[in-house]
Amino acid sequence: METISADAKILAIDIGGSHVKAILLDYNGKPVSEYKRLETPKPSTPANMMEQIKALAKDLAGYEVISAGFPGYIKNGVVKTAPNLGTQEWKDYDLQKELAAQLGKPARVVNDADLQGIGMVSGQGLEMMITLGTGFGTALLLDGKLLPHLELSHHPVKTDRIYDEYIGEKAYESKGKEGWNNRLKKVLTILKTVFNYDRLYISGGNAKNINFQLDDNITIVSNKEGIRGGANLWKQG
Ligand code: BGC
Repeated sequence: METISADAKILAIDIGGSHVKAILLDYNGKPVSEYKRLETPKPSTPANMMEQIKALAKDLAGYEVISAGFPGYIKNGVVKTAPNLGTQEWKDYDLQKELAAQLGKPARVVNDADLQGIGMVSGQGLEMMITLGTGFGTALLLDGKLLPHLELSHHPVKTDRIYDEYIGEKAYESKGKEGWNNRLKKVLTILKTVFNYDRLYISGGNAKNINFQLDDNITIVSNKEGIRGGANLWKQG
């Protein structure tokens, strides 16, 4: 297993349904460059996404390794699903291998919520991360270690509706702030009962639209903070 030196810089990339973001981090996850972002091409293919990533990386020189979070199911660095990117071309695309080949440094790729999760958690107990963006992202960590990724976003929350449809961006647009918040309250009640997490972190563009009081063990964090997970990903062994 590759390790990184204590003075290594990491290029951390967060591929989202609406934007692709990148930053340089030091070994401890501290940002050492500006946070850069470009729009996610629509529809997005491996080829046009790679162009955006290369455009971001061009101005962020000096990294030893690369970490990326991807909005879909990833197995050993290979994309299996990309529900919000609008094309079938992603299936079985070896994103980890391609990033390493095209940017010339070793790469690690995980699900986007997993990357945010390892960037945010305290490392104590069972912690859950959810992201409220284009889709509904989830990650579970035990004592700071990522647990196997579950595509909870695709679990039905009602007979005819998965979490992504119930609480994702499209639902925000069609239901409006009040309706979406009512749905989120129901979702949080389910997660609390099912997972019994010690702490829940919420990030993503719609986190700022939450208009009700959250439990004491729920923390709202920003995507910018979560991208720090890019450093921890190289320390996960
Ligand atoms: C995908 C997840 C992803 C989430 C947030 C969902 O549609 O199924 O894999 O983490 O969106 O991007």
